[in-house]
Amino acid sequence: MAPIRGYVFDAYGTLFDVHSVIEAGRAITADPATLSATWRQKQLEYTWLRALMGRYEDFWAVTEAALRYAIRRLGLAATDAQVRRLMDAYLTLACFPEVTAALERLAPRPRAILSNGAPRMLAAAVASGGLGPHLQHVLSVDAVKTYKPSPLVYALGPTAMNIPAGELLFVSSNAWDVAGAQAFGYQVAWCNRAGAPAEELGLRAHFEITRLDQLPT
Ligand code: 2OP
Repeated sequence: MAPIRGYVFDAYGTLFDVHSVIEAGRAITADPATLSATWRQKQLEYTWLRALMGRYEDFWAVTEAALRYAIRRLGLAATDAQVRRLMDAYLTLACFPEVTAALERLAPRPRAILSNGAPRMLAAAVASGGLGPHLQHVLSVDAVKTYKPSPLVYALGPTAMNIPAGELLFVSSNAWDVAGAQAFGYQVAWCNRAGAPAEELGLRAHFEITRLDQLPT
C-alpha cells in the first residue's frame, strides 16, 4: 500500500460521541440510552433511504425526523422545546477523549472531516470540540446532495485535498462507512470502539483500532 499522505475522518461516532445526547434525553425518558440508540439507527436508515430514493434532505432535517420517529416509536411525549433541546445537543456533541491528541499526532499531514453532517452542524461541533486548528478541511455530503456510502461523497476527499484516495487513510467507527470508503479506493482504518463484529460486505479494513491514537503514522 502507498504511504499515507493525508487523513479523512468520519465525524459522528468517530470524532464525536453521538450518545452524549443521552444527558438531554433524561428530560423525556427514564431510558435515554434506548432513545439515543433508536434515534441514531433511524437517522442512518433515513439517510440510506433518502439517498436511494433521490429525495435528499440535509442531515439536520433527517436527524430531527429520526428523533420524532424515535419518540413515537418508544411511546414517549416531548414538547417542541424539549425536541429543540435534544437537537441543540447535536451541535455540541462531546469529542471522544483521545481525539485532539490523536489529530495533533498526525500533523503535518492534512486532516479532513468527511461527514453526512450538514455544514452548520459540523461547524458547530468542530467549534464546540476545539478541533478547528487540527483540521484543514471540513467536507459535508451537502455538496453533492446525497449520503454515504455513495461514491459521490467519498470523491469529495481526494478533490479537496488534491491527494489520490489510495494515498489517503479514511477513518470511521461505522463499519459500513469504512466499507464504502474502501470500495471507493481509500486505505481504511476501522475504529471499532464498540468491539462490534465485522460487517459481511466482502471487504476487510486495512487497519482495525479501538482508539484514534492508535492510527498508523
Ligand atoms: C457521519 O457521516 C456516518 O453519521 C456519520 O458523520
